[in-house]
Amino acid sequence: MFSGIQPTADSFHIGNYLGALRQWVALQETHDTVYCVVDLHAITVPQQPADLRRRTRVAAAQLFAAGLDPDRSIVFVQSHVPEHAELAWVLSCITGFGEASRMVQFKDKSAKSGAEAASVGLFTYPILQAADILLYDTDQVPVGEDQRQHLELTRDLAQRFNHRFGQTFVVPGPYILPDVAKITDLQDPSIKMSKSASAPQGIIDVLEDPGSVRRKIMRAVTDTDGEVRADEEAKPGVTNLLRIYSALAGVPVAELETRYAGAGYGTFKKELAEIVVDALAPVRERTEKLLANETELDRMLATGAAKAHALAGPTFARVRDKVGFLPAS
Ligand code: TYM
Repeated sequence: MFSGIQPTADSFHIGNYLGALRQWVALQETHDTVYCVVDLHAITVPQQPADLRRRTRVAAAQLFAAGLDPDRSIVFVQSHVPEHAELAWVLSCITGFGEASRMVQFKDKSAKSGAEAASVGLFTYPILQAADILLYDTDQVPVGEDQRQHLELTRDLAQRFNHRFGQTFVVPGPYILPDVAKITDLQDPSIKMSKSASAPQGIIDVLEDPGSVRRKIMRAVTDTDGEVRADEEAKPGVTNLLRIYSALAGVPVAELETRYAGAGYGTFKKELAEIVVDALAPVRERTEKLLANETELDRMLATGAAKAHALAGPTFARVRDKVGFLPAS
């Protein structure tokens, strides 16, 4: 299992947490797991160096705080393992320009500043993501729904490389849990909760203070019929809240519908708010503790990078040989 997350905010949000992180933690019990804070991806849009440095540590601390165990999972920072950028270059040379142009995330992100202003790095972003995944002989990639197209490109590139140069890469598949794959914005349930697209009122951060979490949930958009019932089309706001509740409390949506029949949104939201606050509080506290000792956190990341490098090095050596690069020594 391999997955990655960008260090582009001062906290992950509950979409990241439910769509990805919780699966990452669960999967370390049963699989070989490798997880990466993708700082190379972060700089595809402008970042202040001091912010990037701080957010990379905050991201790593949240991963450990959420339950990743450095003895069971490899947790590292992407730029510490140079093979990611090296393999991305090789893969970019077998990617069609038209193929890369069809990636919707690039279209969305570049639409904001205009395609002319977007960086070439933003354009080739999915190729770097493919390199991340293929370096670790990954079978499955636990992610949210928004990453599906990038994983299809990854599969295409792995198959193309294998076809052209002989068996080299494992062809990976997505690991996406439909119930939590797209947590939506609390104010606009037609869009996914997103650090770049959502207004602060639409996002719940993992590190957010409890008062603010409660306020945002109480103000979350619902509808006028007053029934706590899931219906993606007619009641997207309530459906999203039910999904969050169900995932965090481990109670099926149908059971919640029965429990809150006739109760009204106020009661439902109040109880949901406490569930969210209780789920996030320990993560926030552990994150603070980990951040209080940067030396130790950096040491954990250095250990993770050494383990990642031990896996990525041999994969890239295989690639070098297949492509026809002379041995370096
Ligand atoms: P990123 O940093 O945007 O998001 C991290 C993970 O959180 C998931 N996610 C969500 N899941 C459910 N509901 C939401 N509203 C929501 N918002 C985000 C994302 O699907 C993701 O799993 N390109 C990746 C980072 C990456 C990567 C990789 C992932 C780089 N290399 C290799 C997998 C494998 C990204 O930007 O994720």
